[in-house]
Amino acid sequence: MKVRVDRERCQGHNRCYDIASDLFVIDDFGYAAAARDDAIPSEREADARRAALSCPEQAIVMED
Ligand code: F3S
Repeated sequence: MKVRVDRERCQGHNRCYDIASDLFVIDDFGYAAAARDDAIPSEREADARRAALSCPEQAIVMED
């Protein structure tokens, strides 16, 4: 599973980073991006889902 941030939707709430700082990076303007392009480790998928559910903008996309 891969995780991606829709930059059009992200408003910089940073809840994703608070939940999974290894899966997301925050740029100088406070917006998030995925920390990695490849598949995330299976043991991190639960937190990736939590982060996606926590985003008020629904900006986090989970992809197989
Ligand atoms: Fe952006 Fe949502 Fe994270 S708005 S900074 S992807 S919690």
